[in-house]
Formats: sequence, structure tokens, C-alpha cells
Amino acid sequence: MPDLWSGRLPDGPHPDAREFTGTVAWDWRLAHVDLVGSLAHVAMLGAVGLLAPGDRDALTAGLQELLAEVDAGCPPWDAAAEDVHTAVEQELSARLGPVAGRLHTARSRNDQVALDLHLYVAAAATELARALGRLIARLVDVAEAHAAQAMPGYTHLQRAQPITVGHHLLAYGFMWQRDRERLVEVARRAEVSPLGAGALAGSTLPVDPFAVAQQLGWPAVYLNSLDAVSDRDFVAEFVFAVALTLSHLSRWGEELVLWSSAEFGFVELADAWATGSSMMPHKKNPDVAELLRGRSARGVAHLTGVLTLLKGLPLAYNRDLQEDKGYLFGAHDTALSAIKAATGLLGALTFRAERTSTALTTDLLATDAADRLVEGGMPFRQAHGQVAASRDWRQSPAAPSEAVAQSLVERDRVMGPGPTSIARQLASLRKAVAESV
Ligand code: ARG
Repeated sequence: MPDLWSGRLPDGPHPDAREFTGTVAWDWRLAHVDLVGSLAHVAMLGAVGLLAPGDRDALTAGLQELLAEVDAGCPPWDAAAEDVHTAVEQELSARLGPVAGRLHTARSRNDQVALDLHLYVAAAATELARALGRLIARLVDVAEAHAAQAMPGYTHLQRAQPITVGHHLLAYGFMWQRDRERLVEVARRAEVSPLGAGALAGSTLPVDPFAVAQQLGWPAVYLNSLDAVSDRDFVAEFVFAVALTLSHLSRWGEELVLWSSAEFGFVELADAWATGSSMMPHKKNPDVAELLRGRSARGVAHLTGVLTLLKGLPLAYNRDLQEDKGYLFGAHDTALSAIKAATGLLGALTFRAERTSTALTTDLLATDAADRLVEGGMPFRQAHGQVAASRDWRQSPAAPSEAVAQSLVERDRVMGPGPTSIARQLASLRKAVAESV
């Protein structure tokens, strides 16, 4: 098929130039949103009288037919097309004839691809937010089941004060809930239509950008055409939200790697979520947790990629912008698979009470002892010194479980590891995940 611009350059590109610039092999995943965007464009063209009703109906039916095929998973109609937009337009032309040539009225691929990306980001962010909702829901159940199981809390990776397994897990629940809220916000902010910006300066034809937005159920349109075609902030925001989510999953993965070691022994992984060694017969390795840690590097890489791409680009559209898709799709895929893996892994953990309780040594109650002196009227700094000097802190036997339980009850204040506080945390997260996104 000739290119969309072959009227100007009839000899076509050199095959190597075509291979270097073409993208249909990887931007085909925009075909669904491209067709949804075109349907909205056609409706607008019909509403403002730029398309006769018969032409509008023919184009709408043709686009819907293509959409059904795309949704059924068909590959690109023309694997040699320059990009997804070209492949769609050319196929429509092959099926409908000259009327398909009216689809591109007052539209450029520059505002078209921008709209596609807005649609894609809104859907991808919502999909990830939903996946996080399922992860948090599972975490809440696991945390509730271990709400009272005492374990040491750490600072500097040194035992510090008593907490519970539930309290520790819930800290991740709140991180993931913030990630979820961030993604919902990213989706909301992506709902601004750039269509009508054309190549860069709008159109001399009487288009109605607000009608397109309305058609998509979106509240806003860009007010500046140059901004509309060159803005990729919403992509950067999405990739940042993903990078931070992956960073949180990485922190959790690192703790599971530590906790499943013989040295900690706080957790045992179900066999289905562990791996063996090709050489060492005895090994059971936490590869899923390690890869939650390792995959987070991709989040940082995608974010760095998008920011580097945007830095220094002159207005308005530049072909560099087509590179945004690699980072966007990569971030989306990496996050979705990592969230799913984390959800599975969370259901595959057995917390070993015999190990978490024996790790609770008497030194973890030292701050409590200082607090008791404060209650008797002593300044805290003096109490700290007195307790510090009272014995050799390098030798500490396991603490009696009643003393640990007492410490937890005394810490039963807002944000603490006591039972009422944990119930409050569980209720807060349960309420948050019950809100649909
Ligand atoms: N495939 C391009 C992209 O992803 C859109 C095409 C715009 N190309 C152009 N030469 N104006 O950004």
C-alpha cells in the first residue's frame, strides 16, 4: 500500500529507512484505542456538518467492524504499514473505498496518536489500580490473620521494639493504597482531549473539540494546540506512578528474601512460589521475591527514558515522541505482572511464630523500661542513660511472651502495633479497597 504521504514523496522510503521508522509491530496494541478515537472523531465531524449523515454512518459501521476484529485479537492487517494509524486507515479504505478518505478531515496523526495515548493511559492506570486493589484486599486478610503475632520491629536492620506481623504487613498495605490512589488520579488527569489540534495549529474547518471530549465522556480539552500534540506529561505521570509502585514491591521483596533465609526464618514460602537449584539439591530459593526487587529497575529505567525523551524537545510534535510507547508499554506490562506475582506470593507465605517469637529478646523492652522511669518523673534523657547502663545489652535472652504482649497493649495508640490500632488500620484499608475504581 502507498504511504499516507506518498503524494508528496511518490518513490517511498528506502527499506532501511522504513524499517527504522516503522512501528506497526509494536504500536498495534493501540489499535483498540485508535478505533475508539476515530469513532468519536467521526461523530464530531457528523455533528458539525463536515460529514454527510450517509458518510458518517458508513464510516461508523466500517470502524466498528474493524474494532470487533481488533478486540477479537487479529494481527495488523498490513504488517508493512508505517504505524497503527496507517494500518487502520488503509484497511478502512480497502473495505469502504473513497469515503474512507473523509476520516482524516481536520485530523493529523499528531493529535490522533496523542488521543490514543490519553485513552491508553486512562485504561492502563485503571487496570493497575484494580490489580492493586486485589493485592491490598489479600494483604488485609493475611494481616488480620497475623494481627497479634509478635515479632521484632527493626531500625538499621537491628532489632528495635516489639511489633506484630500484621502491623508490619499493613505498612505495605498503606504504600500500595497510595499507589492505587495515585494511579486513579493519573487516569483522571489523562482524560483531556487533544483532538482538534491537527498537526500543530488546529484546522481552518469548523471542528468542535468539546464534542469529541463529550463523546468520550471526558470533562476537558486542551486549550493550546501546540501543547495538545507535544504534551506527554500524562505518560510521565503514569510511568512515575508505576516506578514508585515497583519500588514498594521491591522493598517488600527484599524483606521476604531476608525473612525466608535460615538466619531470619520468619517465613516459609509455599513450594509453588519458590524455585530450586540446578546444582544444589537442598535449595529452596525465593526467586519471585528477588524478581520483585529486580524488576523495579525497569520502573526506574522507563521513567528515566520518558524524562530524557521530553527534555529539550522543541515544540510541537517531533518524531522522537513515538519512542514514548516503549516506555509506556514496558511500564504497564512490568507493573501488571509484578502486582499479580506479589498477590500470588502473599497467599503463599507461612509466618513461623516459633521464629518470630524467639527473635523477641528482652533488649527490645529497653525503651519501655525508660518510659516507666519517665512515668515516675525522671527526664527521658536521664532514664535513657540509666537503662543503658543497667546491664550488658549484648546478651539478651528471649523475652517472656506476657511482657511482649504487655508492651504491645501499651503501644495501642493511633498508628501503633496494638490491637485497637491494627483493627483501625484493617478497617481503613478495607473501606478503601471497597471503593471501586
Ligand atoms: N507513529 C507516530 C507516533 O507514534 C505518529 C505519526 C506521526 N508522524 C508524523 N510523521 N507526523 O508518534
